[in-house]
Amino acid sequence: MPRVKTAKEEPEQQSANPYLPVSTKITSFKRESSDCFMIRIDFKTKHDPGQFVQLTLPGIGEAPISIASYSQEFMDLNIREVGNVTKALSKMKKGDTLFVRGPYGKGYPMDKLFGKELIVIGGGSGVAPLKGILSYVDKHKNNFGEVSLYFGFRTPEDILFKDEMRQWRNKYNLNLSVDKNPNKARISCDVCFITNLIEKAKLNPENKIVFICGPPMMMNITISILKNKGFKEEQIYVSTERLMQCALGICGHCMIHGKYTCLDGPVFRYDEIGQYTND
Ligand SMILES: Cc1cc2nc3c(=O)[nH]c(=O)nc-3n(C[C@H](O)[C@H](O)[C@H](O)COP(=O)(O)OP(=O)(O)OC[C@H]3O[C@@H](n4cnc5c(N)ncnc54)[C@H](O)[C@@H]3O)c2cc1C
Ligand code: FES
Repeated sequence: MPRVKTAKEEPEQQSANPYLPVSTKITSFKRESSDCFMIRIDFKTKHDPGQFVQLTLPGIGEAPISIASYSQEFMDLNIREVGNVTKALSKMKKGDTLFVRGPYGKGYPMDKLFGKELIVIGGGSGVAPLKGILSYVDKHKNNFGEVSLYFGFRTPEDILFKDEMRQWRNKYNLNLSVDKNPNKARISCDVCFITNLIEKAKLNPENKIVFICGPPMMMNITISILKNKGFKEEQIYVSTERLMQCALGICGHCMIHGKYTCLDGPVFRYDEIGQYTND
């Protein structure tokens, strides 16, 4: 594991050397669902929507986590509890210290997409990295055309970012669905796979850019629907996840179709990687 450097050693330039972890404090902790929570950390750095950081808990391990905000003043991270690091993170609270290195990888080339209409498609915790796109759009309102969102979750209890959803419904063309509603919750969204809503939607590919992040099956079905509607691979950006170790292009753990997810991704234009698979 790289040598740990504290923020005290480098208080003003937290991203001066992205290979060294720096200590940072949790400034807020919010439970989003039974297995997901959002932390805001006091990590000030420049980044693009779609990039990720490596969170380190000394003695426990490291985990790559996508940046779910767009700000040089703080960083939001949405985390799903799956194993050692993420479960330990779930027990932390406001004021606690953790270590972070990055940001890493290539994000979405937002400034090259000025003038386009955006379609943002997310499934489950895949919505988190897409939040950075929406924060970016908020800060550059006049540079984009219509923004349509298609977000799907397993059940109403799994819906993330409920507060933000209300704002997005007012600002954007929000389409929300849950696969099922077993507890008969009162909801104002469709009960179906999000891919069903995309299939039904009248989507004209002209001047559109699509961003997709979610489970591999949902991404593959979505891409095939979009292609049937006339979208070209160059109009589609996908966000990929691979098992990672170094995040520095050294270990080779994260290779996808001859590219390093940690350096060349995790965001790829679809024509750069061809068929998206989970292998
Ligand atoms: C670029 C990138 C961005 C990510 N962004 C987020 C995010 O924003 N929020 C979030 O909650 N998670 C994100 N992940 C996944 C997250 O890094 C892993 O879930 C985390 O490393 C698990 O660490 P752990 O110690 O808690 O679990 P571990 O104890 O290491 O693993 C638990 C289980 O999850 C599997 N696993 C671990 N990492 C991955 C992976 N990358 N893909 C598939 N299976 C994996 C392990 O094989 C094991 O079965 C991202 C991964 C990548 C590569
Ligand atoms: S994680 Fe080591 S090369 Fe990408």
